[in-house]
Amino acid sequence: MTTRLTVLATGGTIAGIAGSAIAQDYRAGEIGIEDYLERVGGLGLGAELSGTQIANIDSADIGPAVWRPLHAAALAALADENCHGIIVTHGTDTLEETAFLLDLTLPATQPVVVVGAMRPADAVGYDGLRNFANAVRVASDPDAAGRGVLAVMGDRVFAARDVYKVRTRGTEAFRGFPRESVGLVTPASLEWFGAPWRSGTEAAFAWPEALPEVVILYAYAGFDGAGVMRQVGETTRGVIVAGVGEGNMPESARQALIGLARNGIAVVRASRADEGLVDREPEDEANRFVAARALNPQKARILLQLLLAGGTSDPAAIQRAFDGR
Ligand code: SIN
Repeated sequence: MTTRLTVLATGGTIAGIAGSAIAQDYRAGEIGIEDYLERVGGLGLGAELSGTQIANIDSADIGPAVWRPLHAAALAALADENCHGIIVTHGTDTLEETAFLLDLTLPATQPVVVVGAMRPADAVGYDGLRNFANAVRVASDPDAAGRGVLAVMGDRVFAARDVYKVRTRGTEAFRGFPRESVGLVTPASLEWFGAPWRSGTEAAFAWPEALPEVVILYAYAGFDGAGVMRQVGETTRGVIVAGVGEGNMPESARQALIGLARNGIAVVRASRADEGLVDREPEDEANRFVAARALNPQKARILLQLLLAGGTSDPAAIQRAFDGR
């Protein structure tokens, strides 16, 4: 049987051009998807690829205006029984946010793989071709569907919930937390670590009409209540604190956040540490705070936006969602 994959292209360095094999500077999102599929056509990847250009931009500019058509195109492809899997090409800077958002809002019926590159397409040592070939390998494996949305970078497969960018240079730029990676891949081989954990035709969240405003406040030595209030506006519905250590913050900032939480703004304590696990502390209940557990601040923000958009605003219910219950 021919494996048919849908490629949804959004831009990034994987579609970037420098104009020189050795230049440092380049422009992300330059190669169109038709051109890209022609370039990979000669690799003998063993799958029939059809492409749709959703956007062709630097992923710093990705947000709801791109997420909405991307999600709609992914949903339409998953509804087509002739589509065996989806590959999303994406800039690496915000790849983890898009992957997590899709993970929460798409069913687990066919594989969905997000892939990028650290070097532009005309650079010596372009990693995009190998990453793309690896993504085809993963998206062609029906067993990938039961692992939700996956990210493929540097011969490793990461779960959307775990993956995050750790380096601004070099091709081994991603890690996973708390699970390091969930598989190893080359264009010719795929090895999974452990059994699939998802199934079903239902997404965890319906696609929202709009994503409410949730801000991330970065804590630091000397961060205070005035700093909190400067960053919270009338339309803010939620705050993620990228706290010091295990979701901590100076007392003055904590008091300001308690005031906000008591006024109905959702407050989630995450960590600015790379591998930050934030558990509940006894005062969280009285403060109406939520602990982000293993989600980093940018992923905690996505989950909180979906919860608020779906009408969940009670801190206990928000906590249950962060606990995975
Ligand atoms: C981007 O995120 O679009 C630029 C950086 C990259 O793709 O590595």
